[in-house]
Formats: sequence, C-alpha cells, structure tokens
Amino acid sequence: MTDDLAEQHERLGHAVTAIVTEYVAGLDTRRVVSEATPHELEKIFDEPFPEQGMTAEEIFKRFTTDVITHAMQVPSPRYYGQFNPTPLPIGVWADALASSLNQNAGAWRNGPTSAMIEARVLRWLCELIGYGPESFGTLASGGTEANLIALKCARDRLHQAVVNEGLRAAPADFTIYASEQCHFSIERSVDILGLGRRSLRKIETDGAFHIRIEALRKQISVDREAGCTPCCIIGLAGATSTGVIDPLEELARIALENNCWYHVDAAYGGTLAFSEKHRSKLQGIAAADSITFDPHKWMFVPFACGAVLVREGGRALRHAFDITPEYLNEDRGGVDIEFDFFRYGQMGTRRFNSLKLWMAMKFMGRAGYAEVIERQIALTEYLAGRIDQLGDFRRVSPVETAVCCFKFQPPGFAGIDGVAQDRLQQRLQQEIERSGEAWITTTVLRGRRALRVNINSFLTERRHIDDLIELVTRKSKALV
Ligand SMILES: Cc1ncc(COP(=O)(O)O)c(C=O)c1O
Repeated sequence: MTDDLAEQHERLGHAVTAIVTEYVAGLDTRRVVSEATPHELEKIFDEPFPEQGMTAEEIFKRFTTDVITHAMQVPSPRYYGQFNPTPLPIGVWADALASSLNQNAGAWRNGPTSAMIEARVLRWLCELIGYGPESFGTLASGGTEANLIALKCARDRLHQAVVNEGLRAAPADFTIYASEQCHFSIERSVDILGLGRRSLRKIETDGAFHIRIEALRKQISVDREAGCTPCCIIGLAGATSTGVIDPLEELARIALENNCWYHVDAAYGGTLAFSEKHRSKLQGIAAADSITFDPHKWMFVPFACGAVLVREGGRALRHAFDITPEYLNEDRGGVDIEFDFFRYGQMGTRRFNSLKLWMAMKFMGRAGYAEVIERQIALTEYLAGRIDQLGDFRRVSPVETAVCCFKFQPPGFAGIDGVAQDRLQQRLQQEIERSGEAWITTTVLRGRRALRVNINSFLTERRHIDDLIELVTRKSKALV
C-alpha cells in the first residue's frame, strides 16, 4: 500500500512539475485575463459527479486546458491588480510539502514541528517590526481575519468581562476609529464583534489620503461628550486603494492619551520593514498593541497566509480566544499550551501555513526582500513619472509604496458630470482588461473613480511598465 502511495506521488509529482514549469515559462506572453464570461465558464464545468473515478492524467489534462486557460494570471508580470503577488517557487512547493505531512497546526500534539516553526516565523516578524521579546501572534487566513482577531483583543482588553458576559457588561458604547480609507474588514469586524457597524468612525483624510489627526481628535471628544467609550484607534500602513501610510507615531500618542488599543493594519505595508531605505515610513509601528501583517501580500507567499502580531504577546490573544475542549485536555504539565495555536484565534483545525513562510523567509533573507521591494517602489516611481508626462492623465495619489492611482482626463473632461467621468475610467479599465495585455483596476477616491496600478510581481521590469504606458495611451486614444 505504501509502495503504491510512493509510486503515485512520484508519478503525480513529475506530471505536476511539468505542468507548473510550462505554465510559468509562458507567463510573460500569456493573456492576463480570460475573455470567457461567467456563463461560458459555468458551461465548461457543468458536468455530473463521476460514478467511477478517473485517472490523475485525465484530471490534470482538464486542469491544463480549462483551469489554467481561464484562470486570472495573478503570477504574471503584467498583473497589476489587488495586493496579489507572483508566488515564490519555494512557497508553492512548501505548500505541497505541508499537504503531504498534513499536520493539524491547531493543537501542539497534532503538529509539534509546525507549532515551533509558526512560533519562529512570528518571532522573526515581531523582531522585524521592532517588538520586544514578550510579543507574540498567530498566523491567520489573511488580513481580514487578522483584523478581526486584533479588534477582538481590543474590545476584550477594555472591559474584560465582555468575553463572558457579552456587551451588556460594557459600561458604554465602544467606538473604533480608522481613516475612511480603511479596508472593509474593519467595518465587518466591528459588526461581528457586536459593536455595530456605526461604531466605526471613519475619519476624513488629507490631500494625500492620510488620516487627519485633528479630525480624529475632534471625533473622539464629540464621542466622549456623548457618553461613548473610545476603544481602538487603527492606523493604516499601506491603504488598500492608495498604498499610503498614516502618521503612525501621532496615532500612537492619541491612542495612549485616550487609553485606546492601538492597531496598525500593515497587511500590505508591513514588508517595508525589510528595507533600510523605506522602513522609516513605518516609524511608530512598534508602539501598536497589535499589527496585521500579511505574508501573502508583499512577501510573495502563496495564499493563504496572514498574520497578527500582538505586543503583549499571548496574554491578550489567550484572554480573547482561549478555551479548552475536553478532547484536547490531556495533562502534559502545561508545557504544550503556549504552542497550541487554536487558543490564539478563531480557527480549530489549522493548515501548516507557517512552512511556506518559514521557507520563503529563509530563502529570501532580509536582504532579498529589501532588494525586491526597493526595486518595485522604484518601478512605481518610474511609472508615476511616465504618467506625469502624459498630457491626458493626472496622478491622484502619492507613491509611498508600490501603488499608483491616476485618472484619464482628456480635453473637456472638467465639463462632463461626475458619473460620466467615472464611466470613462471604467471604460478604459475594461478596454485594457479586454486586450489581455495587462490587468489594472479602478478604485473610488473622494467619491470618484480612479485607475489603480499595484506592482506586486517580482517578475515585473521596466519594459513591462513601458508596455503598460503604451497600452494605456493606445486604449485611451480610442475612447475619445
Ligand atoms: C490594508 C488591508 N487590510 C486588510 C486586507 C484584507 O486582507 P485579506 O484579503 O488577505 O483578507 C487587505 C486586502 O487587500 C488590505 O489591503
């Protein structure tokens, strides 16, 4: 039986290696987006569950013809979409290794080495960010879950009885503060935590989309007068739409003055900490009580791999999440408990996701990460410079990371209404999408659509940016 298993792995491994190798070899020339509609794709996959099993070879053939062909080519150097990276090969294969061991990274006993490796990568991330030895954290499915875990810590630290008694034990309405540019997961989290979406105060931003400190102070004082209890202040280190970074040090000061938990959502921008050149942009981050930091964004680790780091370490996480089910209550003298990751977040069974992060960090080293992100920021600055030279385009956000937002504004643009202005950006985005030559997105800034480019592939070079500029110019000309 095990011989058969070994033989299967060998055969499948060779076949899959051939598929992956051929796939990545064609990344630069492949259409970035399939032209198929959801309805057409539904038809391709509309088939009954087979009565008899098929061979792996047949299944892989379908993968190559149907799945790869119509997949979004996220690993392409011409994919400029959300914070989705080209994954590092070591991360891709680490995923296969993790699956073959199938550790359950929930309780230490079910994954002893996975627990140690998870603790180690968390220590590395904590040190990188400037946290002390008492800090700790947990891996999560992504930034959405990491933000929820952090906000639960914030809620439960302010009034400890809430964990057992619920919000009826809270002295007053809790309020949460973040810039109006915050990720939607913040609003969803306050809802899940029973605080109600309206408890999130979305604070206006300045001309460069950073939170306005004075507006924050004013809102806190209005809320105090109304009898609310300010609970948590959130800073953004790499806002989803623009990639910009809030004044983290000033936010830390306000949080301290107001006895608030301070959370920094560095899901994207945390990676700046690898670079001597850019890490000063995160000045003040180590004062945060908790930090969201997603390796599956700018650390090129394949999905899914998020993380939350907590300054007080396991204490705050355990207060918020620990629970001991009977079937995980063997007496080992307590030595294993601190490595039971199911106690630090909401997941029970957990994947051995630390393996791909551990391998990626060892493979790249600090210097390797610094080199790539410095190159990507420089490329984004180059892109911004090229856009500034185009007559019919205007940049609408500064480049602080590897994100650039801009608008197509042909002659007469100011004379058309806002909806038509938005439509024009969307039509340009759709024309680029239809071409298959690149993929960019739009976002909404100050209520109006803008085009958005994020460079998140370590394969992207200057020639790709030149191609993008040529494509954007060509498609925009056809629109007017
Ligand atoms: C700033 C920020 N926080 C949190 C998230 C959520 O991360 P995820 O999609 O991994 O759940 C994102 C996603 O883009 C983000 O940009």
